[in-house]
Amino acid sequence: MSLLSLADVRKDYLAGDVTVQALKGINLTVEKGKFISFVGPSGSGKTTLLNLVGCLDKPTEGTVTVAGVEVNRMDRKTSAKFRGDNIGFIFQNFNLIPVLTVYENVEYPLIMVQDIALKARKQKIDDMLDRVGMADQRNKYPSQLSGGQKQRVAIARALVMDPKLVLADEPTANLDHDTAYKVIGLMHQMKKEFNTSFIFATHDQKIVGEAEIIYTMEDGLITKVQANGTAGGGIK
Ligand SMILES: Nc1ncnc2c1ncn2[C@@H]1O[C@H](COP(=O)(O)OP(=O)(O)OP(=O)(O)O)[C@@H](O)[C@H]1O
Ligand SMILES: [Mg+2]
Repeated sequence: MSLLSLADVRKDYLAGDVTVQALKGINLTVEKGKFISFVGPSGSGKTTLLNLVGCLDKPTEGTVTVAGVEVNRMDRKTSAKFRGDNIGFIFQNFNLIPVLTVYENVEYPLIMVQDIALKARKQKIDDMLDRVGMADQRNKYPSQLSGGQKQRVAIARALVMDPKLVLADEPTANLDHDTAYKVIGLMHQMKKEFNTSFIFATHDQKIVGEAEIIYTMEDGLITKVQANGTAGGGIK
């Protein structure tokens, strides 16, 4: 079973009297345990696509299937549960909760979605904070962190749930070179250990270079598919 498939997916946004066709007919199939990257100019539809795959929005037309489930037909409550069980998000703007510490931000999804005993939970959080190099900042609040540090907390929070699929929109945008490579290394390790799949929308060549499949988007369409960073097209 493939992890993800999109069939004839279209997405229109209504902005006043104007309809923006953000996705104009996307077809793709992604297998489990892969690093996938979407590249393309600003406004080409990358974030829109990630939002549909993450069940944060619904397509105007077409079907989106994640882990065998047709997510575009789910009601709000079901899709929230599905997201919590299956998908980790790493967004550009972090979405950390300002009144919670670093530790509590990473703990939050574990309490909300998974019923894990306190000791096991603590171990998981400690391990993840260590992996992203934030263990010594655990008692700080998001407002006391730099952009890159916030991003690392957001990454820890997404990965602590052992999601099947991680969606990451420009995940290394605010990271220095060393930290970016550390984060990429962590993602590789998760892929190896848990067969986690990663879908990126990014301009960062460090990530694009690591991707097994690269989809180029232009104006709401996939215009090129490359395997393993080699030139060419049409590979699925
Ligand atoms: N909520 C919205 N309402 C109206 N139009 C939108 C909305 N979100 C996105 N769009 C439009 O849809 C198109 C695709 O936007 P999207 O955010 O998916 O692009 P992107 O490839 O992620 O760009 P970037 O690289 O700048 O992040 C753009 O024309 C954008 O203006
Ligand atoms: Mg975007």
